[in-house]
Amino acid sequence: MGRDKILVIGANGQLGCVLSVALQESFGKENVILSDIKPNPFFESHFKQIDAMDYNQIEDVVKKHSITQIYHLAAILSAKGERYPLRTWELNMKMMLNVFEVARKLRVSKVFFPSSIAVFGKNVARSKATQSSLLNPATVYGISKAAGENWMKYYFDQYRLDVRSLRYPGIVGYESMPGGGTTDYAVEIYHSAVKNEKYICCLNPDTKLPLIYMDDAIRATIEIMQIPKDNISVRTSYNLASMSLSPIEIATEIQKLYPSFKVEYSTDHRQDIAATWPSEIDDQKARKDWNWQSKYDLNQMTKLMLNQLKKKYKKINN
Ligand code: SER
Repeated sequence: MGRDKILVIGANGQLGCVLSVALQESFGKENVILSDIKPNPFFESHFKQIDAMDYNQIEDVVKKHSITQIYHLAAILSAKGERYPLRTWELNMKMMLNVFEVARKLRVSKVFFPSSIAVFGKNVARSKATQSSLLNPATVYGISKAAGENWMKYYFDQYRLDVRSLRYPGIVGYESMPGGGTTDYAVEIYHSAVKNEKYICCLNPDTKLPLIYMDDAIRATIEIMQIPKDNISVRTSYNLASMSLSPIEIATEIQKLYPSFKVEYSTDHRQDIAATWPSEIDDQKARKDWNWQSKYDLNQMTKLMLNQLKKKYKKINN
């Protein structure tokens, strides 16, 4: 894939650690620099400790390694963000603007910045959020992503900085744990099932939310970064859809393989956040601009999650 040199910021996160491996496979380990605020023993080589709040630390790595693409994944998510609203705003905005400024000044050719279903709020029909639905987020995380979308458009319009973005649904994968999100339950529930533990779910059983299996999320990310610049018609962030699921639907699917698995429902502030998000996403634009289509459904995802986690726990316990 040419002479691309990639920097991943937030490589230790739920999406980051899986995307980093996928990028290393596509571009070669030596062409992908991974970074996070904390060291990661899993990524011994090609890893730099970067605090993205510090502009100079990002600039140094981009200069030193002649970086041509940045994937900026570091952020505080929806549920955790509500505990520290001002700090979340400060961190999410400053890290993002540091990345955009470094990219603009050093002429980085492409940047990926993730957005989220959290940009939508209460007035959007829960049944289907369209690409142009009103953005009226109810969380600081959502506000920072909606602002980020406008900044992406600004950097493109003013400086032709090619920033690309997806509004991710909640991501479900066995490789990594999410942290601080409202959709974290959709990963945790599988871990409890495999460990033969009862799962206490923080959402109501029938709260449907947009979810996507990790492999689909990774493929969508790599695809959007590969398509020709002129095919990108959305310079804010693309709606991305896959499944629309509730906790009870996932639990019922798990019980087909783990019949004694039990879930107890005990809602907290995450239920209030989920109630402001759409249950379904209309992703026509992504389908049109690069033929996006998700591949995994609930049945396939559940089989994969349970099988892979079973192997993982067996290894740990041996
Ligand atoms: N999964 C994220 C969260 O729950 C949404 O982008 O905060």
